[in-house]
Amino acid sequence: MKKVYVAMSADIIHVGHVNLLNKASELGELYVGVLTDEAIAEYKRYPLMPLEQRMGIIGSLKGVDHVLVQETLDYEKNLREVKPDYVVHGDDWRTGVQSTMREKVIALLGEWGGELVEYPYTAGVSIEQLRGKIDSQGVLPETRRSRLSNLLRIKKVVRVLEAHNGLSGLIVENTRVVKGDRLEGFDAMWVSSLCDSTAKGKPDIELVDMSSRLDTINQIMEVTTKPIILDGDTGGLLEHFVFNVKTLERIGVSAVIIEDKIGLKRNSLFGNEVAQQQDSIENFCRKITAGKQAQQTKDFMIIARIESLILEQGMEDALKRAGAYVRAGADAVMIHSRKKDPAEIFEFCDTFGMQFPHVPIVVVPSSFNSVYEEELAKHNVRVVIYANHLIRSAFPAMQRTAQLILENGRCKEASENCMSIKDIITLIPGAE
Ligand code: SPV
Ligand code: MG
Repeated sequence: MKKVYVAMSADIIHVGHVNLLNKASELGELYVGVLTDEAIAEYKRYPLMPLEQRMGIIGSLKGVDHVLVQETLDYEKNLREVKPDYVVHGDDWRTGVQSTMREKVIALLGEWGGELVEYPYTAGVSIEQLRGKIDSQGVLPETRRSRLSNLLRIKKVVRVLEAHNGLSGLIVENTRVVKGDRLEGFDAMWVSSLCDSTAKGKPDIELVDMSSRLDTINQIMEVTTKPIILDGDTGGLLEHFVFNVKTLERIGVSAVIIEDKIGLKRNSLFGNEVAQQQDSIENFCRKITAGKQAQQTKDFMIIARIESLILEQGMEDALKRAGAYVRAGADAVMIHSRKKDPAEIFEFCDTFGMQFPHVPIVVVPSSFNSVYEEELAKHNVRVVIYANHLIRSAFPAMQRTAQLILENGRCKEASENCMSIKDIITLIPGAE
């Protein structure tokens, strides 16, 4: 009896999968490698169903003899174990991101005389289309809320980009790039106090009130599905914070980050150039604990942001505070720095990571911007927030356009830097 191997994520089973499995089982004893949640999240999006459920479904299908876990997109480990005579796949991977893996599979099979068998991809169905249909229905608060804690469970590093309105939310939602055999995208959105304030033409001093912040969040939520982390500034008064936690949780925000400052909040990137006061450990711990007690679901996260390095209070203070905040109930900590060199961030993350290996660390590499995500991950960082880049890139582009119109007394020159009219009127589906 010949051995046949098929790999799939099996998150959405459609008629194309059934056709493929039927054909594969006609060739011999059928082994199906089901991708882990981590592997799916690495190359696409987080799975709709966890691995055990997906394996259960595959195992109950006619013609499937063995179901095994495929830990990575790379077939090598399982192929070396099973040594199949055939690997069966749709012919859709000849081009695009999976084509390198296809080459590798052919080479591996060649080692023991195995063969790749490809069947024409079933026309008219694709997981991407089906996922698109599901996503276009929108996402309910409970589903969106739990997506961040799920991502933290299955991804090494959660990559976050700021969004300050529906349009920038769509950019975070939809931007993808192909890098080798991987498809890279953002995992979540950061609703920054700096960008939300700036977009409204206001300073970042907790002047934009919670109703207005909620309005921004709602605009973003209406057109996206990815989880949202809110920059909650200082969290305000404890008595107000507990109400806000409930509201955020109810509408489907996944996490709020609050910083240990008190009084008139100024942006951290000013550091000590402006008067800023750090809260006492006791006071801030009380706020965290009250917030945790107020929340009603298990997946909402309260993340404590430590401003000791920003305010030049030293590493020891930062670590002492981080420990206290975790003991007060914080689900994760964010450490911030305005130095170009990431050395102090690394030192914090190394030490904290040893003390609290299960508490995620969040960083915002606006100043230490030459550091790669991979390097941050080596220092125990689990969430990287690109906190202000969409608005910082939009503003100079818009300003330049305004200047060009004034300089030329017409808009031809400015139009050359602009998206075409056809593109802008069709940018948002449903506009025609
Ligand atoms: C924000 O984006 O508003 C932040 C991060 O709080 S920072 O601007 O670096 O303080
Ligand atoms: Mg802020």
